[in-house]
Amino acid sequence: MVTETLVCIHGSGDSASLWGATVASLPGVTVAALDLPGHGALVATPGPEQLSVGDYAAAARDEIARLGLGDVCLVGHSLGAAVALRLALDAPSLVRRLVIVGGGARLRVLPALLAEAQTAPDATAAQLVGLGFAASHDAQAGAYLATRQPLAPGTLHRDLAACDAFDITADLGRITQPTLLIVGAEDRLTPPKYATFLAERLPNARALVIPGAGHYVPIEAPDALANAIREWLAE
Ligand code: COA
Repeated sequence: MVTETLVCIHGSGDSASLWGATVASLPGVTVAALDLPGHGALVATPGPEQLSVGDYAAAARDEIARLGLGDVCLVGHSLGAAVALRLALDAPSLVRRLVIVGGGARLRVLPALLAEAQTAPDATAAQLVGLGFAASHDAQAGAYLATRQPLAPGTLHRDLAACDAFDITADLGRITQPTLLIVGAEDRLTPPKYATFLAERLPNARALVIPGAGHYVPIEAPDALANAIREWLAE
């Protein structure tokens, strides 16, 4: 039985709606899916021009407090995974467990994508989603892109710059919360070696590779993701 609330944090250019299908496959589990500043319901309140992963983590922490939650299981995807790891370091008493989906100790971004995001964010979003979905899920990638929520101006570049500057390699030994690392076998944006790197250095982590999925596991394989979370939390 799952006793804690799951707090889900989306990735770059995304919103809380990323988690819809996963949450639908977790009946009976209490879930709060957050929007980061500039995304989803917070499109009108993007905050300053530059935000780090630490800034996003502080915003998530405020929202968790506003919801009256504590001792939660953080579930983060990509940039959201970085935010979850950062929160586990900055506010350890808030975080009982972690589920890291398509994450890494560092998240360097292809320089061409980072540059393009400043001038042509829609093209960058299309490239990221194209690279992010497994080749066999190309049709799903187009549909997903078409339904994403609008972002505040500059948001995708800000997200990718935050990822690019993120590096907690030296701090991994301090993240002692039980951690489930999930990665798609076909992930080209945060490849399985990033999860292996984390599994070898986090004191209490286990990695699970989802066959056939790319970077967008919550969209490409929501049932497998939900089952993995449920089984792991029930242990
Ligand atoms: N965990 C484990 N290994 C990592 C890592 C992580 N989080 N981040 C980088 N590495 C590895 C690289 O794979 C590389 O290994 P190699 O020497 O065996 O090839 C090594 O550490 C050095 O990496 P890095 O310093 O990032 O330099 P790079 O020039 O090899 O790569 C990029 C830079 C941007 C090309 C590369 O990080 C990349 O392809 N990123 C994925 C694409 C992307 O934009 N993703 C978006 C993430 S939100």
